[in-house]
Amino acid sequence: MPYIPEKFVEDVLSRTDIYDVISPVVELKKRGGNYFGLCPFHGEKTPSFSVSRQKQLFYCFGCHIGGNAISFLEQYENETFVEAVEELAQRLNMAVPYENDSAAARARSGERSEIYEANKEAANYYYMVLKSPAGKKGLDYLKSRGLSDETILKFGLGYSPAARDSLYKYLKEKGFSDAVLRAGGLVIYTDTGQAKDRFFDRVMFPIQDANKHVIGFGGRVLTDAKPKYLNTAETSVFDKSRNLYGLHLARRSRRSYMILCEGYMDVIAMHQAGFDNAVASLGTALTPGHASIIKKYAGDNSFTYLCYDSDNAGVNAALRAMPILKGAGLDARIIDMSPHKDPDEFIRALGAEAFEERINRAKNGFVFGIEVLENSYDMRDPQGRTDYINAVAARVAGIKDEIERANYVNYVAERYEVDVGSFRKKVTQIALEGKAVFQTYSEPPENEVRYDIESNDMNRPQGVLIAAMAQKPEITRVVKDYLTAEDFEEGIYRKLVTEIMKQADEGQVKPQIILNMFDNEADRAFVSAVFEEDGLSDMTDEELSEAVKETIYKMVKRSMETAAKSGEAGTVQDVIKMQKKLQELRNLKI
Ligand code: GTP
Ligand code: MN
Repeated sequence: MPYIPEKFVEDVLSRTDIYDVISPVVELKKRGGNYFGLCPFHGEKTPSFSVSRQKQLFYCFGCHIGGNAISFLEQYENETFVEAVEELAQRLNMAVPYENDSAAARARSGERSEIYEANKEAANYYYMVLKSPAGKKGLDYLKSRGLSDETILKFGLGYSPAARDSLYKYLKEKGFSDAVLRAGGLVIYTDTGQAKDRFFDRVMFPIQDANKHVIGFGGRVLTDAKPKYLNTAETSVFDKSRNLYGLHLARRSRRSYMILCEGYMDVIAMHQAGFDNAVASLGTALTPGHASIIKKYAGDNSFTYLCYDSDNAGVNAALRAMPILKGAGLDARIIDMSPHKDPDEFIRALGAEAFEERINRAKNGFVFGIEVLENSYDMRDPQGRTDYINAVAARVAGIKDEIERANYVNYVAERYEVDVGSFRKKVTQIALEGKAVFQTYSEPPENEVRYDIESNDMNRPQGVLIAAMAQKPEITRVVKDYLTAEDFEEGIYRKLVTEIMKQADEGQVKPQIILNMFDNEADRAFVSAVFEEDGLSDMTDEELSEAVKETIYKMVKRSMETAAKSGEAGTVQDVIKMQKKLQELRNLKI
């Protein structure tokens, strides 16, 4: 694999203007210090996609995708990292200095391939256990759920024994280093430094990427214990926002469309019944990233079938997924599985043929949406019915395409037996009043977040401070006077501050380059969100200065308190000196 030196990538990023990359494909208008446009990654009617020339980053406040010029090309054009760099270099007339065998490249791809290797061995091991007396419980369970030996083999299902270090011992014996086992998330270390298997006493589902590498595992308990599934934690190869369960098989399916389900068991049951085009997200809600993967493998046929659970949560997840799929250029249809809960149950009860029929009768997103809406109205009451028809009219008014809109006017009028002329009038009136309802992506409400949604509980004041530091070198200087990177929350914040301080010393802070140091999409989105801290652009200089001082003050105080508690406080003189400095901070002009 060709490798492009980091230095060159940074050079390209420093010379590229992200505005020139995005403006040809997204119409941008200047607002405040940023440019705004309609987000190309999810359907929307009001612009929440922002591009900052100063920071050289983009960020969508609606769907939270963000990054630098490279990430934009990766996601918008579906390019690989290398392809994106090549394209930018070409715009700049720069020759790409490929390195085939650099130490860095070997180290980077080395760790990844060692993790793949360790995961593959782990999957073999779990399979072997499943087929041994130690795994009988697991095998009985899978059989009780109707899986054949062939299916179990095809998906490489296995069992992790109850002992807490059996996989660890097995893989050590095979020669894997502790570092690799830890980096791959197979093994965790206790406080005392003892290695323990992450998974034990669970049925194991290896998760493979499109190229069949085992990137992680899901493990299911056999009892009603919680959590039902435990997944591999995010690692350098396991990125939930970029992978779908079953994709390595579905991409080779002869059916030209994909069926998106909710669970691992659903995918497996579907494949066993002959629907080898079923995939599922890895326990998270569908993201625009997933939609673009589906689009990539969907070929010319842009249909996608949604086969989510028929309970409330599943219906809401489906309603939320539709605009995301539409945004990626996919036409989503929804399979009704009633009276059964999920495809697994449906197929076991009614069989593959009945399921095929349901596929043929799948409803498009609009029809599904208005049917769900019926539940919120008393359809037997004339007033309820009128209110419902008006609500539907508002949705019809929100359909952008004129012909499509006309078709739905006819469809709704016929289906609900209302006069087509009056209904059309109503739709027009609503549109003129600006009350049309558009199908756009919306965040899942807190109480409906199902599992593993990356928590965005960022420590906002620290985030604001970091965004301010990236923007104004003076602020970084003041922060350095009072705080060190260790005073910031461990993880992304600390890494950001460390880099900003370093770059500030070297002369100029370049957020687009800092962003490049994060190599998974979720982290990059988070970093873009921090840099694009929306409150910031609305603040006056005065307010910003106050906010910065306040945060520094609190952080210094907190550090002093923790230091005092742990007996690590400096001398009395040190403490007095710091308190004096804190007083100076109050009067400081930033
Ligand atoms: P069965 O309950 O065995 O039929 O499995 P399922 O795959 O049908 O699971 P379900 O429909 O309950 O959940 C859908 C998906 O959400 C699962 O396949 C997992 O990916 C994920 N999931 C479910 N429960 C949990 C959990 O407790 N923790 C995590 N991290 N993910 C879960
Ligand atoms: Mn299920």
